[in-house]
Amino acid sequence: MNSVSLFSPFQLKNFTLKNRIGVAPMTRMSSIRDSVPRKDVLDFLVRRAENNAAIVFTEAIVTDYESAQGYPGQARMTTQRQIETWQPVVQAIQQHGSIAIMQMFHCGRMAWPEVNPANRSIGPSPLTPEQDNPLTGKPYPVPDEMSLFDIKHVINGFVETARGAVAAGFDGIEIHGAHGYLISQYLSSYSNQRTDSYGGSVENRYRFAHEIIQAVRLAVPEGRLLTFRISDWGVADPEVSLYGSKEEYQQIVRLLSREPIDALSVSTYDFTQKAFGTEQNMARITREVSDLPIMICGRIFDRASAEAALNDADIVLSAKSILLNPDWVEDVRAGKSLRLRKSEEANIAYTETPLP
Ligand SMILES: Cc1cc2nc3c(=O)[nH]c(=O)nc-3n(C[C@H](O)[C@H](O)[C@H](O)COP(=O)(O)O)c2cc1C
Repeated sequence: MNSVSLFSPFQLKNFTLKNRIGVAPMTRMSSIRDSVPRKDVLDFLVRRAENNAAIVFTEAIVTDYESAQGYPGQARMTTQRQIETWQPVVQAIQQHGSIAIMQMFHCGRMAWPEVNPANRSIGPSPLTPEQDNPLTGKPYPVPDEMSLFDIKHVINGFVETARGAVAAGFDGIEIHGAHGYLISQYLSSYSNQRTDSYGGSVENRYRFAHEIIQAVRLAVPEGRLLTFRISDWGVADPEVSLYGSKEEYQQIVRLLSREPIDALSVSTYDFTQKAFGTEQNMARITREVSDLPIMICGRIFDRASAEAALNDADIVLSAKSILLNPDWVEDVRAGKSLRLRKSEEANIAYTETPLP
């Protein structure tokens, strides 16, 4: 048990976090006009900071106007209007003594082309997930195999979006390399069958992530954080292990650990689950080969589960529990009896009903 540390400060680079709890990134699909979220969705983030979440992640912000968007109503961070919408939100989070991190993503082959202004879906290889898109009930369209021009264009989208986040005052930026979206499509041989220098060996499949991290770091001032999210699962075909073996996953974590990033966020459905046929969970397998601070999530719902998760990680993130309970952090501190939330309960995230 790790009972001392959950509510003790944690030094994340130059930021002293007031505790080890954060709001996991959560897409809300509320940005109908101008690619900015609804006011109540922004207020929701501030309310979690007020309740003492030490880190508040934004929903996944899409990185370009061509092919990055995966769901209707996602937000962007490249126009002055978008930046000015987020500025007061970031300030309010900071006034509560918390830090704000913008997560950004490109959905790659998970695109639903109709939601992208350029009506296009791209990926490392012209391969679709096996399952249908649950939102359309239809197969995902076969993505265009990305050209070198596409690769540069996408990297530029990450850089421009990071610049937007810096202008909006965010303390940090997260590159979403998890959940079967574009970056993890490159990392995993399940979706990457390229024969050029971006496919084949682990080093080659890693090249795209490396180029994004390097380019984004140049746009993020030294005093701000850059984090990377990773998972062994994707939202489509969730039963598939993206890395297949502990060795391959650890090879990628080793490569990430050489990058100018400040933390790794490991996303699981269940932080206790043993991974890759071993007796270890994902956080421990990550920690074994990395000195980076580690964030973990997945079925952390009360004080006991949060403390247990800290045995192998430095920071715990909550999605469903913190989504559905604005007082979750303080309830955890008080050791209240809290229940595990079901996935269906979280669907309220996508409705117009304001969440407290
Ligand atoms: C409504 C909702 C939206 C989500 N959107 C994102 C997202 O935009 N980016 C991301 O990395 N993960 C996203 N996730 C995954 C969560 O961050 C987290 O990894 C997952 O829900 C497991 O944590 P939990 O058991 O605390 O819910 C989302 C989860 C939910 C419930």
